[in-house]
Amino acid sequence: MVKKNKTYGFATRAIHSGAAPEPITGARNIPIYQTTSYVFKNTEHAERLFKLEDFGFIYSRLTNPTVSVLEERLANLENSRAAVACSSGHASQQLVFASLLNNNDHFIASNKLYGGSINQFNKTFRKFGWDCSFVDPDNILNFENAIKNNTKLIFIETLSNPDGSIVDIEAVAKVAIKYHIPLVVDNTLATPFLHNPSDWGANIITHSLTKFICGNGTSMGGIVVDCGNFNYLKDEKFPSLSDPDPSYNNIIFSETFGDFGFAMKVKADTLRDLGCTLSPQNAFYILNGIETLNLRMRKHTDNALKVAIYLQQHPKVSYVSYAGLKNNNYYDLGKKYFPNGPGSIFTIRLKSGYKACVSMVENVKLFSHVANVGDTRSLIIHPASTTHSQLSDKEKVKAGAGPDVIRLSIGLEDIEDIIMDLENSIK
Ligand SMILES: Cc1ncc(COP(=O)(O)O)c(C=O)c1O
Repeated sequence: MVKKNKTYGFATRAIHSGAAPEPITGARNIPIYQTTSYVFKNTEHAERLFKLEDFGFIYSRLTNPTVSVLEERLANLENSRAAVACSSGHASQQLVFASLLNNNDHFIASNKLYGGSINQFNKTFRKFGWDCSFVDPDNILNFENAIKNNTKLIFIETLSNPDGSIVDIEAVAKVAIKYHIPLVVDNTLATPFLHNPSDWGANIITHSLTKFICGNGTSMGGIVVDCGNFNYLKDEKFPSLSDPDPSYNNIIFSETFGDFGFAMKVKADTLRDLGCTLSPQNAFYILNGIETLNLRMRKHTDNALKVAIYLQQHPKVSYVSYAGLKNNNYYDLGKKYFPNGPGSIFTIRLKSGYKACVSMVENVKLFSHVANVGDTRSLIIHPASTTHSQLSDKEKVKAGAGPDVIRLSIGLEDIEDIIMDLENSIK
């Protein structure tokens, strides 16, 4: 069949976008530009680069050719305008908040988030004077009710860690639009293969590249994606984007760079000053992972559904949180937002509670007991005593990480082997 649409499909873009053979040697894979700096053609060239009047490479804290390929590729896969890579998923969140919020600003976050994000928002971000209201995302009114005069962003994970529950992103986006507040979505657990938040009204996307996008557990990384669809000049809420920046000759980022003004602000200003840079070596590993993202995510979701169906019938399991199961509360949202399956991370609850969870985690052989998700390997953890341990008992239950909960990240091994290991460890 000959395709009429001229836009390349996801698998093609995941392999090619942002990259071309290296012009001098013809090297087909992306070279690792292991360099801190770049020779200027002359002083005028250097000056233009420093004033952001020309695009180019100055210093690898800000720009590096290997990292640039990754940035262009993620922006493309997220149907967005531009992206800025950084050293971890947490760093990407730091970059977004530091670019938009001032001291005494407020933001709203779903209370179903990765435990480390709840911690980051609740503790360290408060030290910067950024006040957070956590809301239950299952009732969209909660977002609207939490809005204050100084609210500067809304943060959700469409597919939440640890329980794989789904937020009705389109409905949250309507609230964000009504109050002219950017909607920031952490798309880590979904990846752009399963879900594109920009298609449903997100304005900024963050990722921990450490997970499925790299895919093999080798490299830490993060990225901020500018969807290019928020007008920062509409009112005076975002002076960092709408006021002159004295450190760059008084340019106004949103005016000078238009629909990628936010990405430029993040890179040229916030990344410059915070310095949470991604190394070119890690960018290379992550780029190699992305090439197979579509194949891996199909297999991850296929295996996850089979495991969820098996566990749902297990006499020692009281609950399986996978949104791909027909009786799950999020099944309909899953069909709408995740037509290729709602990922491969979910939780189970064991009837015998805390002790049974500890025993299960200690008796797996194929699964790895680690603080990570989104690896080729199947992974297991007891969130209440690890990833979510800093939360109060109440917060743990709200975040889907109570004492009887185990989180599974289903890998790419043979499904029979995965199920055998679960069967033996539950016993
Ligand atoms: C959903 C989600 N977002 C963000 C992060 C933070 O990413 P990183 O560990 O790369 O800083 C994690 C880490 O587990 C995560 O699961």
